[in-house]
Amino acid sequence: MPEKKFNVAVAGATGAVGNQMIACLEEREFPVKSIKLLASHRSAGRKQRFKGDWVVVENLKESSFNGVDIAIFSAGGDASKKYAPFAAKAGCVVVDNSSAWRMDPEVPLVVPEVNPHAVADYTNKGIIANPNCSTIQMVVPLKPIYDKYGIKRIIVSTYQAVSGTGIKAMDELSDQTRCLIHSEKCKINVYPHQIAFNCLPHIDVFLDNGYTKEEMKMVNETKKILEDDSIGVTATTVRVPVFIGHSESINIETKKHVTADEVRVLLETAAGVKVVDNPKENIYPLAIDAAGQDLTFVGRIREDESIPNGINMWVVADNIRKGAATNAVQIAEILAKEYL
Ligand code: A2P
Repeated sequence: MPEKKFNVAVAGATGAVGNQMIACLEEREFPVKSIKLLASHRSAGRKQRFKGDWVVVENLKESSFNGVDIAIFSAGGDASKKYAPFAAKAGCVVVDNSSAWRMDPEVPLVVPEVNPHAVADYTNKGIIANPNCSTIQMVVPLKPIYDKYGIKRIIVSTYQAVSGTGIKAMDELSDQTRCLIHSEKCKINVYPHQIAFNCLPHIDVFLDNGYTKEEMKMVNETKKILEDDSIGVTATTVRVPVFIGHSESINIETKKHVTADEVRVLLETAAGVKVVDNPKENIYPLAIDAAGQDLTFVGRIREDESIPNGINMWVVADNIRKGAATNAVQIAEILAKEYL
């Protein structure tokens, strides 16, 4: 039988993640019958390449999804909230990268290496949510540990790249770096403070409980993806002057005792994980090495000597690829292979 092919739309096609989604569809040879590239009115008429052909970017509209089978969204939460229901009504399945639908109990929140079975619930609303970038790369290595040893509590601190904020933030880091090296005053537009040569303990907005929304996304999404509300999760999320690749310091308290060597052995064969852990040779995961890759890199695996059952690790992934575009396209692949 010939392979089934799909009419695909990418909403937010001109953005940092949208661009990578297009690249992932190409690289992974997703069975595309036709492609529609959607963005705001500002980009309508612009041309982008897909598999060697030029495709005209169209303005995202309520009627954009007629005849589309799968739409991958990365056009921001407001656009997702507004347009995903129109897409679903037109019979299209939405894979949404924004936070708009993630905590809707009817919408599955999926990391293919962790809870692929949840894709089946796309039938509830016609929408599947792609988790937050920092959550994705954390749950990929934690899932095998959770399954074998149980996890009571997670303490995570992130070191997040500016590309998570979008192309404007990448430009701002370049511009500020250039200005400061030449002893010129730099402009601050995207973040509340200078990001070049600095760290901002502030991602997304502050909430009444003193945490940022990004931190609470990590807490709530982790529980939803691992299907376990009993896990304690606490997060501190920090923006750092890195272009691509989020790094995370993760401390877990397991239910059963586990050694660092046992974790290393377990993660050596875990789906989507690569262990990079030879500190004696100065080998550990680095953002600059993870950039452009789809795996989640884990190193500095060691026992937390302050508690009986604790493990520390350093986890790095490309936030635009595994943290967003690749994960979304992997979800679309499951949909295409098993459900549509
Ligand atoms: P545009 O380039 O026309 O503004 P990034 O996160 O890199 O800034 O990219 C955001 C993406 O989402 C871009 O493709 C942007 O299009 C798109 N976008 C933002 N707001 C809307 C909107 N209201 N309707 C459609 N597309 C939007």
